[in-house]
Amino acid sequence: MCACTLILVAALAGGCAFDGPMSTLVAGSDFNRSILSVYAIITWASAAIAALVFVVLGLVLFRYRERAPAPGLPAQVRGHTGLELAWTIAPAVVLLIIAIPTIQVVFRTQSAATPSDALEVTVRGWQWWWEFRYPSLDVATANELHLPRGRRVVFSLEGPDVIHSFWVPQLGGKRDVVPGRQNRLSYTPDRVGEYWGQCAEFCGVSHANMGLRVIVEEPADFDRWVASQKVAPVEPDGAAAEGKAIFARSACVGCHTIRGVSAGALGPDLTHFGSRALFGAGLWPTTVDRVVAWLKDPPAMKPGSKMPNLHLTDAEARALAVYLTSLK
Ligand code: CUA
Repeated sequence: MCACTLILVAALAGGCAFDGPMSTLVAGSDFNRSILSVYAIITWASAAIAALVFVVLGLVLFRYRERAPAPGLPAQVRGHTGLELAWTIAPAVVLLIIAIPTIQVVFRTQSAATPSDALEVTVRGWQWWWEFRYPSLDVATANELHLPRGRRVVFSLEGPDVIHSFWVPQLGGKRDVVPGRQNRLSYTPDRVGEYWGQCAEFCGVSHANMGLRVIVEEPADFDRWVASQKVAPVEPDGAAAEGKAIFARSACVGCHTIRGVSAGALGPDLTHFGSRALFGAGLWPTTVDRVVAWLKDPPAMKPGSKMPNLHLTDAEARALAVYLTSLK
């Protein structure tokens, strides 16, 4: 194999990582485990058939190769009842072997049954961020979803603007979020960890900037997180207090909710903004400097951003960023 071929193979295979954060081949839920079981059956069946075909082809090529100039046409054979039956029945059997577990998995993963202890989560896809609400817990967050390990989650997906698609590859699914329609998706996360997700339906200029993170944690840790999200924000002091005053008198209040301060409903709920590791739908770490950069010019940071440039001064943006990041 020449060097060029090696380089080409390396370039083409560069996107292939078995255990990358967006790999569907790593299962973190019963849903994905079911899909992977079907995937394994189909892969092994295809591999076995390919191996059989190549072995038989090789044997035939070798056995019937031309050894001396042939005197004329070889014996002409027409029809073979046994063979005809065999290559009709064998593929039917293979399809049956694939179809039975596939249909079982389709019914298992698409079941509408909701166990009474299921955790309901409302997912709303916005241009270009994710809203998550837990109606039974009275908790709202954005872009960062916490789920307890081992408990069934029932997602109810709704869209206020255009079609998006909710997809966390290692947990399974990929379900469209369609305006005017309620879609459902259900699974049980069974492995503690951090999972990456991404909007999987083109929804405008910042479609690629519409990421999310799911944090699956032990039930006790999840309960602690819920409790922390229900705590009212403490009264800020110093620069944060100044930031709060700027927030309260600016256009921010028209779109964002901070409990006790504002009740906007067009942008992410910021009541516990500082508790989220990333902001901007998974784009940047929630640090004062990054938040300042964002506040100074949102559309420059994220093309098409619905949050306009409010022309804040450096001092205003910094005070606001200190306030927002203090909201744990
Ligand atoms: Cu939302 Cu693509």
